Amino acid sequence: MKVLYKNQLIDREQAQVIDIEDRGYQFGDGVYEVIRVYNGHTFTLKEHLTRLFESAKKIKLTIPYKKKEITALVFQLIQANQLTEGTVYLQITRGNQSPRQHDFHLSQQSESILTGSTNPKAVNRAQLQQGVKATLIPDTRWLHCDIKSLNLLVNLLANAQAHEQGATEGIFHRDEIVTEGSHSNVFIVKNKQVITHPANHLILNGITRQVILAQCAATGIQLEEREFTRKELLEADEVFFTSTSTEGQGITEIDGQIIGDGQVGPLTKQIQQLVFQEIN
Ligand code: PDD
Repeated sequence: MKVLYKNQLIDREQAQVIDIEDRGYQFGDGVYEVIRVYNGHTFTLKEHLTRLFESAKKIKLTIPYKKKEITALVFQLIQANQLTEGTVYLQITRGNQSPRQHDFHLSQQSESILTGSTNPKAVNRAQLQQGVKATLIPDTRWLHCDIKSLNLLVNLLANAQAHEQGATEGIFHRDEIVTEGSHSNVFIVKNKQVITHPANHLILNGITRQVILAQCAATGIQLEEREFTRKELLEADEVFFTSTSTEGQGITEIDGQIIGDGQVGPLTKQIQQLVFQEIN
């Protein structure tokens, strides 16, 4: 198994020692991406790299490689690990700066550290046919959720709480407004209209979300980007969440309340199919 370290592929076993003062460890000072690989090919890699560079710019982190260099490294990694179905994880931190200090201006002279790995986990398409449970959780994150930052503690706590309650995903809400999932974007369907939170600083503008927006526009499915409330969520005809890891997953129960008729709805299925077509 190979991993990416800076701009080289090295053996997984060699990549045990990362500087203990790497700012990724000390502060979560970095950004990341998760990219899908289907049939040995990356899906929407360009969009993921665009977002990686945007996230880096928003935290004033310089990525010392060009997009096409990272693209080549990702392809090499996929090939070296013979990955056909799974994901690539890319992370870039502001590097090490000893001794630990908050001001990152000094560390800007130090090198940002790019790392990457693969995970041969295919999408569980059988599960997509069945609905899952979700639970509502107050969104106590910061106000820069558009940045795909390594700081994921609130997301991790929300996801853990969801699992402790027998649910698959935690759905964040700020007061009455539903924002997104702990690691996904959330959509509702009401009277054949699909609704999702606008792409602003309160959510991550998911690449899967963007694919769905484009597909809905192309096929005439009505979709509105607007805020919706917890009440609208619970009274929706259908609810689903989307991410690189899961594509589109129907939610049929939230906090014990059955959504719609308790089955994965027709528009959710249609959108799952549209994503599937886009991949193939
Ligand atoms: N999570 N919102 C949040 C908070 C996320 O963490 C993710 C993805 C998404 C969906 O984004 P995309 O469609 O680009 O995957 C939305 C990734 C998969 C993760 O952290 O593992």
